[in-house]
Amino acid sequence: MLISVVGAGYVGLVTAACLARLGNEVRCVDRDARLVAHLRRGELHIHEPGLAELVQAGTADGRLTFDTDQAAAHGTSFVILAVGTLDEDGNWTSDLARALSTRGAQLALYDPTGAARAQAMLESEGISAATAASAVAACRDADAVVVATEWPEFHELDWTDLARAMSGRVVFDTRNVIDAPAARAAGFDAFVLRAR
Ligand SMILES: NC(=O)c1ccc[n+]([C@@H]2O[C@H](COP(=O)([O-])OP(=O)(O)OC[C@H]3O[C@@H](n4cnc5c(N)ncnc54)[C@H](O)[C@@H]3O)[C@@H](O)[C@H]2O)c1
Repeated sequence: MLISVVGAGYVGLVTAACLARLGNEVRCVDRDARLVAHLRRGELHIHEPGLAELVQAGTADGRLTFDTDQAAAHGTSFVILAVGTLDEDGNWTSDLARALSTRGAQLALYDPTGAARAQAMLESEGISAATAASAVAACRDADAVVVATEWPEFHELDWTDLARAMSGRVVFDTRNVIDAPAARAAGFDAFVLRAR
């Protein structure tokens, strides 16, 4: 099958390499020309066990190709979109940040990939927000924490550590990603939207 994957980041590159390994012809498109040049040479910007080998094998046998031109996706059986969703998430996070900020909240942001972009977007709207290098750092001295995106590491948060780091004991999980029983065991009031 002829498939295109748009976005060669963590999600897209792994998807493209695995689909090629399964025998499909995969055209992987990314707007980042430097990234595409590296990938064509088999040089990866991310580390996942076995991924480099899959990419190199797919590139060598011609089943996996990289391109900057979205026209490469034309005529494929289907297109997998694996681009960032600002992080969509960023828009509603921006609404939330604006609402909190106008009520006097001080904001600290953490996201493994999107924090700097979210900060720039908020600052362009006159909303000041600090970024932090980790979830624990973002929560330091905080009264409350809002989980607004679904990174796997947020399921692994050590709520005992967070209880020590924070001033308050309130968490709002808008993505149903945290280990709510663990948070409650550590003394948090945990409010989970979309609870299963
Ligand atoms: N990585 C994860 O574990 C994870 C977890 C939850 C959700 N997600 C979601 O999956 C999506 C992809 O995440 P990721 O980690 O692969 O992101 P990433 O930032 O690693 O990769 C996204 C890639 O898309 C490319 N891109 C952006 N816009 C493009 C466009 N218009 N045309 C072509 N290429 C474009 C970027 O250059 C980048 O290389 C995001 O929406 C993210 O929120 C990822």
